[in-house]
Amino acid sequence: DKGEYRHYMLKEIYEQPKVVKATMEGRLTGTSVLEQALGTEAADLLENVRHVQIIACGTSYHAGMVARYWIEDLAGVPCSVEVASEYRYRKHVIQPDTLFLCISQSGETADTLAALRQAKQAGFRAALAICNVPGSSLVRESDLVIMTQAGPEIGVASTKAFTTQLTALLIFTLALARHNGLSTEKETEIVEAIHLLPGQVNDVLALDGEIEEMSKAFMDKNHSLFLGRGSQFPVAMEGALKLKEISYIHAEAYPAGELKHGPLALVDSEMPVVTVAPNNDLLEKLKSNLEEVRARGGELFVFADQDAGVKPEEGLHVMQIPSVHEITAPIVYTVPLQLLSYHVAVLKGTDVDQPRNLAKSVTVE
Ligand code: M6R
Repeated sequence: DKGEYRHYMLKEIYEQPKVVKATMEGRLTGTSVLEQALGTEAADLLENVRHVQIIACGTSYHAGMVARYWIEDLAGVPCSVEVASEYRYRKHVIQPDTLFLCISQSGETADTLAALRQAKQAGFRAALAICNVPGSSLVRESDLVIMTQAGPEIGVASTKAFTTQLTALLIFTLALARHNGLSTEKETEIVEAIHLLPGQVNDVLALDGEIEEMSKAFMDKNHSLFLGRGSQFPVAMEGALKLKEISYIHAEAYPAGELKHGPLALVDSEMPVVTVAPNNDLLEKLKSNLEEVRARGGELFVFADQDAGVKPEEGLHVMQIPSVHEITAPIVYTVPLQLLSYHVAVLKGTDVDQPRNLAKSVTVE
């Protein structure tokens, strides 16, 4: 039931404060991660992990890409991420003590399941699933499971599944990081930041009206670029995927530093450029990337930390986002991009919940 909402997608975007909170529930104290809450065997399985191999498709793959930044940064454990459809058809070198981590909303994605089955034969240390559907094939076939608490996701475009996957992945990262020397102070700092997420996502939802206004600029465009740096690069990828899926506007995501290695040639006034700019140590570099775009007459739409000092100007539209912790920022910055594509799709009159040619769960190759 969509209730007061026009589409399931919008309802699901608005459910995020609640479902992110539900995904934290029982897994955190005010200041630390309850490792036992990840399963009785979690501690044993995580103890000797030397490498993490993440496998997923689509939006779940983007969640895995964000997690790679977290895992290497906080746990200091090398992490590889690959789309299941590529991984399953190539020969791979398996590092000793690898944790095989599958991310899937449905738990029934054919390529992801095939990759898991192959991995089991090849002898990984353990298989962990991050999944939203209890009793799904993925859940049944994994050694350790962290369920996301997104509830049923009806819209084909994944929204709340993604932000709950990220929440679960961050909690998992902290548990793994504990076995790898993360200080109690750092753990507390991040757990406190996780607790702030539901409120912060709510603050972003309050910008909906402004984002709807902004979306008008995309209606008659055929192409767009999404830029981000660091853990916000996968957020840009996810933003681009949402726009493609439901508004049918071609959207490409690039790490901002790659601009001058090619895509800058595409930039003109017909190519809107969307950027996520939290206040981190890459901000100054990102600002100079934005200048490069402006100098070519490109119109910029920047979602920026309110303290980042990005001011609106001719050709530069700025949406101020409340300040958030750098680690949790990918979760918060995803939300305005979801709203942006939603409103562009509504303006274009596409079938938001059932985009053409797509199925909710890809159970065949
Ligand atoms: O159920 P899964 O998470 O395994 O599904 C993976 C993709 O098919 C899915 O994320 C797809 O990309 C969505 N339509 C994205 O919005």
